Amino acid sequence: MLNPVFANLPAHTWTQLRALLNGVPAGRNDPLDLTIGEPRHPMPAFINEVLEANSADYAKYPPIQGTPAWQQAVAAWLERRYGLTGIDPDRHVLPVAGTREGLFSIAFIAVPPRKAGQQPTVLMPNPFYQCYAAAALSAGAEPVYLPATAETGFLPDFASLGEDELARAALVYLCTPANPQGTVASQDYFDTLIGLCRRHDITLVVDECYGEIYTDAPPVGALEACRSMARRGLGDPADPYANVLSFQSLSKRSNVPGLRSGFVAGDPRLIAAYRELRSYGGAPSPLPVYAAAAAAWNDEAHVDGNRVLYRAKFDAAERILQGRFGAYRPGGGFYLWLDVGDGEAAAKALWSRAGVRVLPGAYLARPDGSGYNPGAAYIRVALVNSLEVTELALQSIRDTLETVDAR
Ligand SMILES: Cc1ncc(COP(=O)(O)O)c(C=O)c1O
Repeated sequence: MLNPVFANLPAHTWTQLRALLNGVPAGRNDPLDLTIGEPRHPMPAFINEVLEANSADYAKYPPIQGTPAWQQAVAAWLERRYGLTGIDPDRHVLPVAGTREGLFSIAFIAVPPRKAGQQPTVLMPNPFYQCYAAAALSAGAEPVYLPATAETGFLPDFASLGEDELARAALVYLCTPANPQGTVASQDYFDTLIGLCRRHDITLVVDECYGEIYTDAPPVGALEACRSMARRGLGDPADPYANVLSFQSLSKRSNVPGLRSGFVAGDPRLIAAYRELRSYGGAPSPLPVYAAAAAAWNDEAHVDGNRVLYRAKFDAAERILQGRFGAYRPGGGFYLWLDVGDGEAAAKALWSRAGVRVLPGAYLARPDGSGYNPGAAYIRVALVNSLEVTELALQSIRDTLETVDAR
């Protein structure tokens, strides 16, 4: 017997992509893959060294709350990166084995069986990281997809929601810098959203796994925003992170998506409940992974180097695309979100004519009540490869799509 709750989950992004392109011959012998958000810059050399130096510890069960060295590294990074003070890792921080599993299982803590006398909702941007929808369903909530389109500044307009909609919501997912659009939530945006969440007893989960990949100014973080609000008398100064959790990852920051290492930080009440749940069913990282992760959070040089590489690729995108397909330089992240008219047609043409694999935006979004899919006009292009491969692919995208009328 299968749980019918998941019956209406559409095929996952990658399943849809395979259905579109597999069986279609690629337009070049060595295809260029710009679909997956998997960093391909070199992994810092010290990661392997630390893993090897600690390998005897694979023989031990690791603690759910991380090791003291890991906790100290994360607390120091939070204070350095966001100007926070007084971070107590035991109260404010928990490791996750990559943010995906954390973003998924946090819904079990945040979603009660009923809210305002009804089945709760989970609000999320549209398009969005697909994990959020499955998490909402798993926790027994109804996922509600809020347009994050050019018209809304590529972030959901939470302030436009009615009181009833907010009363029913148990959990909000926000991604900043956003995947796929790269938009960064401002302090003002956080002021409004955090205020709404506190007024309506909603847990705000902020997915900040792209927060270290930016061009100019470091994106404001959710906990940094909470601190700023507390300083301005917004909220309870004794409980500055109330209702708010920030998810952070080493995958993009340190080019170690295979290490599966991140953390969640914020509201001590939520962290305590989540820690208890994780003690029953969580997957703590192996001790050598905690050691490597601590080394990564303690080091900024490799992250600076990473940003230099992404910057060069966004420079190349500006030079090559010259604003075609609405190309813009995002506030953060490593994607181009290109308005090509019909994302599926463009992805197919790019694959069959140029051997360039990109992701149709529709596969990251859900149609609204009228059947309109806010990602349908777009392709997502991941700038994860070398500068040379990226330049080659961008030239092919420009040349191929100029001859294809996907509108
Ligand atoms: C928006 C977003 N959130 C979370 C993740 C998960 O990252 P990880 O589980 O590697 O930390 C990804 C990965 O691509 C992502 O794009």
